[in-house]
Amino acid sequence: MSIIATARTLADLRQITAAWRVNDQRIGLVPTMGALHEGHLSLVRLAKSRVDRVVASVFVNPTQFAPHEDFAAYPRDEERDAALLAEAGCDLLYAPPLDGIYPSGFATTVSVEGLTACLEGQVRPGHFAGVATVVTKLLIQSAPDVAVFGEKDFQQLQVIRRLTRDLDLLVEIVGAPIARDVDGLALSSRNAYLTAEERRIAPMLAQVLAKTARWIAMGGDIASAEAGGHADLLSAGFARVDYLETRMPETLERLGPGRLEVPARLLCAAQLGRTRLLDNISIDVAR
Ligand code: PAJ
Repeated sequence: MSIIATARTLADLRQITAAWRVNDQRIGLVPTMGALHEGHLSLVRLAKSRVDRVVASVFVNPTQFAPHEDFAAYPRDEERDAALLAEAGCDLLYAPPLDGIYPSGFATTVSVEGLTACLEGQVRPGHFAGVATVVTKLLIQSAPDVAVFGEKDFQQLQVIRRLTRDLDLLVEIVGAPIARDVDGLALSSRNAYLTAEERRIAPMLAQVLAKTARWIAMGGDIASAEAGGHADLLSAGFARVDYLETRMPETLERLGPGRLEVPARLLCAAQLGRTRLLDNISIDVAR
């Protein structure tokens, strides 16, 4: 089994990354909450293809979970994560304790307005302030040249791009394509919560998104296509659809009703048993 250097303090992280920088090595950061899967590892590999050294952080960030959410139950297995990261070519695991990110008296929040009012931000109030705060902190702590985030969490990626721009952080934000299982289900640490029966139903989410996107791309009415996708998910066994919406990729402004005139993103969150699944797909306009 390969082993990987692990930094638990900011001092250690800064010492190791400073030594790389002195040797003109470029650094990439891949922030995660652990319970790693092939999606996370694809981010590490993408980072490694762009820079000399890759740091992956594993920190289950309490401030992005609401009190009723799964912070306590969130899967944690650092030994397994460390082995997977080493195999994927990651150079350093940064696993700070809670007070390494939120020391006593911590009082600062980064909140990105506008972009966070819809979709996940509407369903999970406060979620993106937690994400934006921890990501800002991780970017400042590791000062990477490049940081990689998955399109799986498409709104999160746009929020991070915006805060990076707004705060003049000297980092290039790279978006990585969604890694999927063979049946199309987007990989997620939370897929571990699915029962066998739910796991059988789950790939319908990607299928419904693909079908809805195709319909819209071919000139179908956006609102009717969304309503059709919504109904398909409920009849497939999903308990609730939080949203299934066509939006501008960068600003996340809502599109439709009517015909799509510009490239867009179709985003969805739906509840299957006790698991909330997220997925999204790009929609191109047929010319
Ligand atoms: P986490 O859910 O662990 O995801 C870490 C990174 O992996 C995110 O950028 C996410 O978009 C990406 N990712 C997850 N599943 C993916 C998949 N199937 N394909 C491609 N990328 C995937 O997202 C978070 O953690 C947190 O909010 C974090 C940014 C670490 C801040 O706490």
